[in-house]
Amino acid sequence: MVIFGGSGDLTRRKLIPALYKLYTGQRLPLTFNILGVGRTRYEDDSYRLHLKKNIKEFINENELNSNSVERFLATIHYISIDQSQEKEYVLLREKIEQLGNGTENYLFYLATPPSLYEDIPLFLKSAGLDKGRIVVEKPFGYDLKSAVRMNKIFKGVFSEEQIFRIDHFLGKETVQNILALRFANGIFEPLWNRNYIDRVEITAVENFGIENRGGFYDSTGALRDMVQNHLIQLLALVAMEPPVAFNEKEFRDEVVKVYRSLKPMNNQEIAKSVIRGQYVGVDKTIKGYREENSVAAGSHTETFLAMKIFLANWRWEGVPFYIRTGKQMPTKVSEIIIHFKSTPHRLFSSREECPEQNQLIIRIQPNEGCVLKFDMKVPGGGFDVKQVPMEFTFDKLGGVPMDDAYSRLLEDCISGESTLFTRSDAVEESWRFFDPVLKYWSDNTNFPLYGYPAGTWGPLESETIIDGGKKWTNPCKNLTNTDLYCEL
Ligand code: BG6
Repeated sequence: MVIFGGSGDLTRRKLIPALYKLYTGQRLPLTFNILGVGRTRYEDDSYRLHLKKNIKEFINENELNSNSVERFLATIHYISIDQSQEKEYVLLREKIEQLGNGTENYLFYLATPPSLYEDIPLFLKSAGLDKGRIVVEKPFGYDLKSAVRMNKIFKGVFSEEQIFRIDHFLGKETVQNILALRFANGIFEPLWNRNYIDRVEITAVENFGIENRGGFYDSTGALRDMVQNHLIQLLALVAMEPPVAFNEKEFRDEVVKVYRSLKPMNNQEIAKSVIRGQYVGVDKTIKGYREENSVAAGSHTETFLAMKIFLANWRWEGVPFYIRTGKQMPTKVSEIIIHFKSTPHRLFSSREECPEQNQLIIRIQPNEGCVLKFDMKVPGGGFDVKQVPMEFTFDKLGGVPMDDAYSRLLEDCISGESTLFTRSDAVEESWRFFDPVLKYWSDNTNFPLYGYPAGTWGPLESETIIDGGKKWTNPCKNLTNTDLYCEL
C-alpha cells in the first residue's frame, strides 16, 4: 500500500491507526508492506518513530501492545519525493520494486491535498505503476466540471473497478445500519413515503473549528467538505428504493437514482432554501473563523450550511429533506430524524400544545442507536397523553468500535469490494445538483453569509427554511448513553 501524503494529517490520525487495527486483527494479507510518500524528509526509522507517537495518541490503550506495534511498524517504509514532479516517480517505482515481492498488487491511497489528485494517476501511468487499485479521498472535484475532468483522468489510467472513491461516512457502522433498519424489517417500508412522512432532518455538526486545516478549508467550505458527499450520501440511504441485492452494482444504481431525482433548484429557490453561515469569535476565548491560521482575513467561506432539498419521484414528492452541517456548534453529533405525519384528527387535547408527532431518530454518532417516539397515556386520572421514547442503543449489541470506519473501508479496498465506495456517475450526479448553488454564490457575492457565535446552533435565519413554522431539532448538548433523546 502506497500512501501519498504519507507525512500528512489524515495518514497519522486515521489511516495508520486503522491499518494497525487491521494488522492486530490479522485482517491484512501476510505479505503486506506500507510505503509512505511525502515531501517531508524522513528515513524509514524516523518515519516509524513519528508514526509510533501517533499510534499511541489515536489508539485506545487497551488495544495497544508494544510487540505488535513494533512488528506493525516494521512493515512501514518511507520515501521522500516531490509528488508533483513526474520525474520523481521513477524513484518511487524503484522503491516499490525493492519492497514488492514480485507481484504488482498495489494499493495507492491519495491522502494529499486535492490539488495533486489530477497529477498522481498520470504520473503513476508514465512510471508504469498503473497496476492494482487506487483510493482517492474526497472532495472528488471542486465542482461538476472538475469532477468530470477528474473522472476522465482516473479512468484513462485505471478501470472503474480499480478506482475507490472513499466517503468515510459509509464505513460507519451506524450508517450501514440504516440499510438494515430499512431493508431487514418489514414494518417501516409501508410508512416510508410521502403519505406518512412529513419531513426528514439530517444534521451533522461539530463543536470545534477547522483545527489546523485552514489552507484546505478556506478553499473548500462546508458544502464541498460535508454536504456534497457525506450528507447527500446519508440522504440517499434514507431515500433510496430497496436494491434488488446488496452488491456493488445494485446498491450503487439505487444511490445514483436518488441523486438523479434531486429536484434542481433555480436561483429564487436557492436564495430562499440555502442558508450559509460563518462562525465568529466569542469573548476572545474562541477564535472566529477569519482569525484562524491560513484563512483569508475577509474570507467568505461558509462553515455552516442549512438547506431544503426535494426529490422528484413517486415516493418522496413534496417531502422536504432538511440538511445541516456546521463547525463550532454546541456539540458533535450526527443524526437523522424521520418526522411522521400527524394523526388526521386529534382526540386528546393534552397533546395540542406539542406539534411533534411520531419520530424515528437514527443517531449516527455518538451514543449510536435509534429512538422511536410515540404517544402513551400518563397513568392516573384524566386523559393525559405524552410522547415517550422507545430506544435501542448499540451498546446492547456490544457497542460500536471507535473510529472503525477507515478500517472497514480499507479492508474493503484490499479485498476489492467496492459497494461502499462512490461510483463515477454518482459523483457527477451529486455535483450536478450542487453546482447551481456554487454558481449562484459566486455570481452573487453579496448573497448573505450570516455570522453565528461559536458554540451556537448557527444563524437564526436557518429556521426560516423549515416549512409550516416548524423548527430544527437540536440534539442534546451533554449526551450520555441513557440520554439519547431529550425533550424539545
Ligand atoms: C471529514 C471532513 O470528511 O469529515 C471534516 O473533512 C469533518 O471537516 C469530518 O470534521 C467529520 O467526520 P466524523 O467521522 O468525525 O464525523
